[in-house]
Amino acid sequence: MKLKELEGYLQQVDGFENPKVNLEQYPTTPHIAAHMLYTMDTTFGDIRGKLVGDLGCGCGVLSIGSCILGSAMTIGFDVDCDALEIASRNCAEFELETCELVQCDLQQMSPFDRWSKKFDTIIMNPPFGTKDNKGIDLVFLQKAIAMSTTAVYSLHKTATREHIKKKGFEWGIKLDVLAELRFDLEASYRFHRKKTVDIEVDFIRIDCSASCYN
Ligand SMILES: C[S@@+](CC[C@H](N)C(=O)[O-])C[C@H]1O[C@@H](n2cnc3c(N)ncnc32)[C@H](O)[C@@H]1O
Repeated sequence: MKLKELEGYLQQVDGFENPKVNLEQYPTTPHIAAHMLYTMDTTFGDIRGKLVGDLGCGCGVLSIGSCILGSAMTIGFDVDCDALEIASRNCAEFELETCELVQCDLQQMSPFDRWSKKFDTIIMNPPFGTKDNKGIDLVFLQKAIAMSTTAVYSLHKTATREHIKKKGFEWGIKLDVLAELRFDLEASYRFHRKKTVDIEVDFIRIDCSASCYN
């Protein structure tokens, strides 16, 4: 499938109806989601035929893209039932049979629970931990590494790059910044005065094949 075709499909995915500020609910744009997934698949071979987990799946744009690209199965996890309801409707509209959704609070999940090392690939656009949730980005990252046998792909504020690299070093993992993106947050929340707010974001890949959690 061509990149443009994938982006076109992802433009049909419905987003959050009433985004919750405390859960940092802003969707990955179809443009960014398509580029991320295309890179994971064509450059690294981490999507097609793989068992993929999507942490903080929201309305499912990354999960759906992963299924469209031919993952064996993609399981999306989110704490919010309203988002999962929309994700479920989106999956039904795409007639996807390889997408499952799980409601759970990833902060409460033990890194060594039943999902430990059950996935080839973990993909995510986690909460950045900017408001009342400081550190949640690292919690998501730890869970993701614990769940994957091969690779984790994630988005993090470029401003936190050195901190995340330092943590990665402590955890004994190999982390690469694949791209620097400009994340175009729509002014979906009342505290955003401007129409759009650009945030610089790193698209990272972690090689889990030799992680300290193995
Ligand atoms: C930035 S949004 C990304 C949504 C979606 N993955 C996307 O790319 O469009 C972060 C998501 O993480 C979810 N989330 C926040 N805290 C969570 C938690 N403790 N456990 C599970 N999901 C959580 C939110 O509900 C939200 O859907």
